[in-house]
Amino acid sequence: MLAVLMLVLAYLLGSVSSAILVSRLFKLPDPRSHGSNNPGATNVYRLGGKLPAILVLVFDILKGTIPVWGAYFLEIEPLLLGLIGVAACLGHMYPLFFSFKGGKAVATAFGTLLPIGLSLGGLLIATWLIIIAVTRYSSLAALVTVSLAPLYTWLIKPLYTLPVTFLTLLIIFRHKENIKRLFRGEEPQVGAKQDSAN
Ligand code: G3P
Repeated sequence: MLAVLMLVLAYLLGSVSSAILVSRLFKLPDPRSHGSNNPGATNVYRLGGKLPAILVLVFDILKGTIPVWGAYFLEIEPLLLGLIGVAACLGHMYPLFFSFKGGKAVATAFGTLLPIGLSLGGLLIATWLIIIAVTRYSSLAALVTVSLAPLYTWLIKPLYTLPVTFLTLLIIFRHKENIKRLFRGEEPQVGAKQDSAN
C-alpha cells in the first residue's frame, strides 16, 4: 500500500514541469512552443540562459531523487524502488498537470539513479561531459549517456539493470525528433544562435 502511494506521489511530483514554471517566473517564451519545443533544461538554456536552466536542471533532478530516496528510507523493496523511479520519469514525460505533454526526462532519470551510488552518478556525468565537450550536442550527450546507463548499472548494482534499461528505451523514444535532426545535420549545438529547432 505504501509502495502504491509512493508510485502515485512520484508520478505527481514528476508531473510538475519546472521548465514551464521557471520560464513563467523569468517571463521567458513557453519552452513547449519555442526552440526545440521541449520543456527541459537545455531548451530553457537556449531561450533564457544559465540561471533559469540551472534551476530547471536542479528541480528536475530532485523530482527523481526525492521519491526514490524517500521510498528507500521507507524500506520499500528494490524492484518497487525501480518502478517508483520510472513513475517519476513518466510524470515528467506525460505530466498530469500539463495535458500529458512533457519533456524527455534525462535530468529526472539521472536523479532517480543518484541514490544507487555516487560512482554511478560520476560515470553518468563524466560520459555526458565528454560527449558534450566533443560534439556540443545536448541530445547526443543524453543519448550516449542513457545508452551506457544499463551497462554502468549492471557493473555497479545489477539488481536495478532492468528498470534502468526500461528508462533508457523510454528516453531514446522521447528523442526521436532529435535523432532525425542529428542524422539530417539539423540539430542545434549548445551555444549556437538558433531560435527554432523544430
Ligand atoms: O535533455 C534534453 C536534451 O537531450 C535535448 O533537449 O531541447 O535539444 O530537444 P532539446
